Amino acid sequence: MCGIIGYLGKNEKKEILLDGLQELEYRGYDSAGIAIIENKQLKNFKAVGRLKNLREKTKDYESVGFGVSIGHTRWATHGKPTELNAHPHMGAYSFVVHNGIIENYQELKKELQTDGVKFLSQTDTETIVHLFEKNHNINNNPWQSFQDTIAKLDGAYATLLITEADEETIYFAKNGSPMLIGFNESDVYFASSDTPIIGKATEVYYLEDGEFGYAKDGKVFLFDANGEKTFSKQALATDKAMAQKDGYRFFMEKEIYEQSQVMNDTMMGRVLEDKIDFEELDKNLFDNISNIKICACGTSYHSALTASYLFERIAKIPCQVEIASEFRYKEPLLREDTLFITISQSGETADTLEALKMAKRAGLRSLSICNVDNSSIVRESDAAVLTRAGIEKGVASTKAFATQTMVLWMLAIYVAQAKKTIDSELLKEELNAMRQTPKSLLINDSIHPKMTRLSKRYLHGHGFFFIGRDLFFPLALEGALKLKEISYLHAEGYPSGEMKHGPIALADAELFTVALMPKSLHYEKIKSNVEELCARDATVLAISPEPFDLADDYVKTTYDSHPMLEFFEMMVVTQLLALEISVRLGNDVDMPRNLAKSVTVE
Ligand code: G6P
Repeated sequence: MCGIIGYLGKNEKKEILLDGLQELEYRGYDSAGIAIIENKQLKNFKAVGRLKNLREKTKDYESVGFGVSIGHTRWATHGKPTELNAHPHMGAYSFVVHNGIIENYQELKKELQTDGVKFLSQTDTETIVHLFEKNHNINNNPWQSFQDTIAKLDGAYATLLITEADEETIYFAKNGSPMLIGFNESDVYFASSDTPIIGKATEVYYLEDGEFGYAKDGKVFLFDANGEKTFSKQALATDKAMAQKDGYRFFMEKEIYEQSQVMNDTMMGRVLEDKIDFEELDKNLFDNISNIKICACGTSYHSALTASYLFERIAKIPCQVEIASEFRYKEPLLREDTLFITISQSGETADTLEALKMAKRAGLRSLSICNVDNSSIVRESDAAVLTRAGIEKGVASTKAFATQTMVLWMLAIYVAQAKKTIDSELLKEELNAMRQTPKSLLINDSIHPKMTRLSKRYLHGHGFFFIGRDLFFPLALEGALKLKEISYLHAEGYPSGEMKHGPIALADAELFTVALMPKSLHYEKIKSNVEELCARDATVLAISPEPFDLADDYVKTTYDSHPMLEFFEMMVVTQLLALEISVRLGNDVDMPRNLAKSVTVE
C-alpha cells in the first residue's frame, strides 16, 4: 500500500525523505519518488523498483537549507508501476503525493483535458495537481486554490502539495486515508503512519477525515468544514515494530482488522450505481466464452471454489475449479471457448504460473486475479484484475482471500451483465449487498474478546471439522486451512451433508466441529447435519444468527438476507478463532513453521 512522507524545515531533506520511505517499505511498493523546493528551486526524482534505485538517482544531490519536501512509495492500482505513474506528480510548477482513490478523477481529467492540460500518467492522483494549477492560474492565490481543489475531490485521499507559487508551504488534506503531522521544535513532518517519523518528531497529531490546511514557518494551520480549528498534539510512540503493526500484536491481526477498509478499495470505481464495471477489462473478454476454468493454490483455491457457485448461479456459466499442481499433470482437455482464470495473492506461485502457461499454449484466453501488479502471473495473463488488498505480510492469508472473493463476486455479476442472465431487480439486490460488505467485515467490541475466551476450550482434541454447505463449504475449507496453518492442529473442511458418508465415524467428545450455519442458505439442511453430530457427542461450536441449543458453544452473527454478507462475517469469526488458538499455543502467528508466503518452486 502506498506511503507518504513530508518534511518542512532546515535539515537535509533528501535523507529525511529517503529514510522515511525506507520505514514504509514494509507496506509494499513498486516505485518511489521525492520532490523538494529549496531556494525557490524545485527538484524531483523518481525510480521504479526498490528504494536503492531512488538512492542511486539522488546520490549527487543534497538539500541543506530551509525548504519543503514530499515523498511517496507507490503500490500500483490505477496504472502500471512505471516512473511516469510514480508520485510525486507534477504540474507546471507544483507537485503532489496522494494515497487513496479519487473516484471522480475521470470526470475531472476530462474537464482538464478539454482545457488543454496534458496528462503524463495514468493515475487518478495527477488530476489533483492540474486542478490546483488551473485554479491558481485564475485566482493567483495558492491557499484558495488548494481549498477549491479539495472541494472537488470525491473518494478517499491523504494528500500533500508543494508549489513554487508558495515555496515555503506544504498544503495537506485528509479524507478516508490515514495521515498524521509530526512536530519537533520548528520542524514539521507529515506521514501516512507513525513509523517514518519515529525518532525524528517528538509529538504528533493524527488528522481526522475532512481536515486540511497548511504548514508554514514551523506552524500548522488546521481547518475543517467549519473553518480554522485548534488541535492538541500527543507524544509520539517510540516502538517502530509496534508502529508497523499499527498497534496490533501481529500482522495477521492487523490484516484481519483492515479487511473492511480494503474492501472499499477493492470496490472503488467498480461497484457503480447500476452496474459492475472493470475499466481494466476489454469489453469483449467474454465474447464466445461458454465455460470458465479457475486454477489456484491454497487460500486462493478456496476463493476460486466460492466463485464457482457464483458464476454458475448468477452468470449461468459452467465453472470448474482445479488445484494448480493437479491440473498440470492431469493432461486436461482444454477448449478454446473456456476463459482460464488464475487467482494468486503473490502472482508468483510456481504451480499456478505453470498452469497458466499451459492454458495459454492451448490457445485459451486468460485472466488473472492478483494482489501484486507486474507479478509474473499478471504479466503472463491476457488480462488482470488487481485485488487492491495492499501488502499482506502474515503468511496465513486473510485480507487477500476476502478481496479475491469480492473481485470474483463482482466478476460473476459482470459476466451476468454481459450475458444478460441477470435482471435489473436481482442486479440491484447484488449491488446493494456489495455496498454492505465493508460493514459485515467490521469487528465489533464483543466478538474478538469472545473468540479469545472460546479459544481456550479448543487447544486439544483429536481434530477439527469445519463444516458448511454451498458457498459455506469453501469457507469451511478456508477456516480449517487457517487453523491448521497457524495452530498446527489437525483441521479439515467438509461439506456438512457429506459427514455421514464417512467422517462421522470420528465423532466423539474430542472431535471439535465448527459449524457454519447461515440463515440465508439451506439453514434447515445444515441444522440437521449438525444435529447428527451432536447426537454422537461431538463438541460443536455453532456460528449462526440463529441460536442453536444443542451446540456446546455458540457465536451469534448478524442475520442478513444475502448469503455473501453472512459469508464475510463468518469468515472473520473463523480467522479470529484461528488467531487466538495460535496465540494461546504460543506459536509464531505471522511466520508459522514450514510455510512460506510465496511458493515459487513446484
Ligand atoms: C502458499 C501460502 C498460502 C497461499 C498459497 C497460494 O502456500 O502459504 O497462504 O494461499 O501459497 O499463494 P498465492 O500467492 O498464489 O495466492
